[in-house]
Amino acid sequence: MEKSAIVLAAGDGKRMRSNNPKVMCEVLGDPMIDWVLDAAAEAGIPAENTGIVVGNGAEIVSAHIAEKCPAYRTFMQTERKGTGHAVMQAEEMLKNGGNVLVLCGDAPFVNGETISAALKEHETSGNAVTVVAAELPDPAGYGRIIRAEDGSFDSIVEKKDCTPEQLAVTEINSGVYWFNADALAKALPKLAAENAAGEYYLTDTVAIIRDDGGKAGIFTAPDADIVLGANSRADLLQLNIIAKMRVIGMHLDNGVEFVSTDGIIIGRNVEIGRDTRILPGTILRGNTVIGEGCVLGPNTLIENCKIGNGVILNSVQAYDSRVCDHVKAGPFVQLRPGTVLHDGVKIGDFVEVKNSEIGINTAIAHLTYVGDSDVGKGVNFGCGCVTANYDGINKYRTKIGDYAFIGCNTNLIAPVEIGENATTAAGSTITKSVPPDSLAVERAQTKIIDHWEKNFKRKKKA
Ligand code: UD1
Ligand code: CA
Repeated sequence: MEKSAIVLAAGDGKRMRSNNPKVMCEVLGDPMIDWVLDAAAEAGIPAENTGIVVGNGAEIVSAHIAEKCPAYRTFMQTERKGTGHAVMQAEEMLKNGGNVLVLCGDAPFVNGETISAALKEHETSGNAVTVVAAELPDPAGYGRIIRAEDGSFDSIVEKKDCTPEQLAVTEINSGVYWFNADALAKALPKLAAENAAGEYYLTDTVAIIRDDGGKAGIFTAPDADIVLGANSRADLLQLNIIAKMRVIGMHLDNGVEFVSTDGIIIGRNVEIGRDTRILPGTILRGNTVIGEGCVLGPNTLIENCKIGNGVILNSVQAYDSRVCDHVKAGPFVQLRPGTVLHDGVKIGDFVEVKNSEIGINTAIAHLTYVGDSDVGKGVNFGCGCVTANYDGINKYRTKIGDYAFIGCNTNLIAPVEIGENATTAAGSTITKSVPPDSLAVERAQTKIIDHWEKNFKRKKKA
């Protein structure tokens, strides 16, 4: 049977007190909407069958979604009149019939497994609507699941509309539902905004569908955390804390070592090999893969990088780069996008490498900038070297052959090529290519002027 999804992401997020749309607020470095969309995809709902209702900050949310996958469909909700009104804007998604999943863009812990299990329950029970519910000791602001005297599912009542007895109910609505598309299409026009908030509540469709003779059922989420949503900054912090410890727990199970979790944030898609140690202040995010037996941190940020085995990165920031086995870098190193460090490379303090390939066992130990360069193996950079890759208009590459020795304070004015095994003398500014095995010196001779006693005053003072 046809499966579609509608994700509600138009809300004002007033309680978040942000200038940005709520669903773009991040949990472990990814906007909440990404978590929710990935859960729908995990449950096998294709992007072209997924409609997202946008409103507040629509341009930002739509641009983000389009970048993630252009097949997603978006629907505009110009005024925020409630979750039921939001679904009305995506009515088109109901035309294919079958079953429609509704998700809230501000509840990131929903997962494919729960969505699929709820669908199974929905289908086998022949429900017209199945609400995913959970038991929460503190039901807070969630909608309460109200059951009839015989225990059957009666309706969902929002906190604002609850009687004192209803307030005490700890079975709550997760905001995740499977609907029969036709039943939902018939129920939506019957919604009225007759409640404390003056909104069209999607939750009211449950009673409407049931009154129309449809079956309304409940699927209880085995893991109550999947319902957690963020309406405020405090909620968002709580979600980050829970997600952080869950991700770290998974890596612990895989043999990754943490002696402390202080300041450690690991994105949900990061992979880490066994026996790697993660030290405080380390942030790993995006599509990052770390090998075995590495030591990362303290204070290291790695985004979209592939790191080999036995790598040591201490106070390093690395973006969109590849670091091969047994590389040692830090402290205070930046690897900018497009960098490849081959096996055994050593990078020391205050070095920046950008869009460059650095060959096996090359050492760049101190205070050096290497940009747009192709560096061979076994090269040694002295202290304070600079590849001058930019003339203010264009960028040019520098090529350095195997075993070359770049003396301290060498400026390499690109485009330029240093031959294999060639040497540049300390303090040289190299503007033309240097042949293999040769020495390039570009510096005035040291002149000695005898008895030039300029320093007598200082001498006297001392
Ligand atoms: C909603 C449910 C509540 C449930 C909770 C679970 C209703 C009436 N209440 O409450 O029963 O326990 O979710 O998290 O549905 N949105 C729009 N347009 C609108 C209003 C909201 O797109 O006009 C979106 C929001 O961006 C959000 C989602 O719908 O992603 C839920 O809205 P929110 O206002 O946060 O509802 P809750 O009060 O949390
Ligand atoms: Ca919410």
